[in-house]
Amino acid sequence: MSLLTVSSVAELREFVHQAKFKGLSVGFVPTMGNLHAGHMSLVKHANKQCDVVIASIFVNPLQFNDLSDLTNYPRTLEQDQALLEENGCSLLFAPTVDEMYPNGQGSQSIVSVPDVSMGLCGGARPGHFDGVATVVTKLFNMVQADKAFFGEKDFQQLAVIRKMVADLCIPVDVVGVPTERNNEGLALSSRNGYLSANELALAPAIFKALQDVVNAIQQGNDFDSTLEQTQQRLNQQGFKVDYLALCRESDLKPATAEDDQLVVLVAAFLGSARLIDNLPFPLNRTTD
Ligand code: PAF
Repeated sequence: MSLLTVSSVAELREFVHQAKFKGLSVGFVPTMGNLHAGHMSLVKHANKQCDVVIASIFVNPLQFNDLSDLTNYPRTLEQDQALLEENGCSLLFAPTVDEMYPNGQGSQSIVSVPDVSMGLCGGARPGHFDGVATVVTKLFNMVQADKAFFGEKDFQQLAVIRKMVADLCIPVDVVGVPTERNNEGLALSSRNGYLSANELALAPAIFKALQDVVNAIQQGNDFDSTLEQTQQRLNQQGFKVDYLALCRESDLKPATAEDDQLVVLVAAFLGSARLIDNLPFPLNRTTD
């Protein structure tokens, strides 16, 4: 089936109405475009679990706190359409800023998700998760999908969206999809396109560092000194670490030795690219 692209909410709603009238389940993959294999993994999961897959491409100004980051964000619509079609997506919703924010961004009602939006990327990018939560709420209301698919690479974003959906009783099933990596372990991201050849060769060290933290913690090493040493090593290798944190997986509060399921999360600049990654893991305890 060929991909249909629409830019108005009215056309989107008509498509969803027809699908639901036929009794088809709808899967939704929200994106900001510049699609890669990570996004296609979301589309593939959606295709397996739903009858019809809708994707959106919208570079959401509300979630950028740096104007040059917003301006430079890669926009590759034709290439994205080809990928979506190849992977069995039925409809692409690609609205303009005016379609998404008809009353202007300044007077848009804002969705703010407490606790889990604080710290980590929320600390480094003030207002970012309000922008994400607001646009995702609007998209959920526009699409009214049965299931929505998000990558686990954006671990904090996924936690924010899960809490928002629970707190606001939004009738959609949020599905987290495991991170896609290249052969060297680098998490796929649109921001990898900002890396030079040398930086691209160095970038997988970020995942290696996460694996080292997991091994050290599982062997019983102290949380703080493990993080400190790993952060130092990354900085020496040429990264500029924004944060390296060990959190409880369920709510991203700082990890304690009593927690069962942890996640180590990192954000680091390599050249002009801000890379993020994470690795969830169980905290094994020896019982004697
Ligand atoms: O992860 C993204 O691409 C964006 O944050 C999202 C979820 C599409 C909201 O703009």
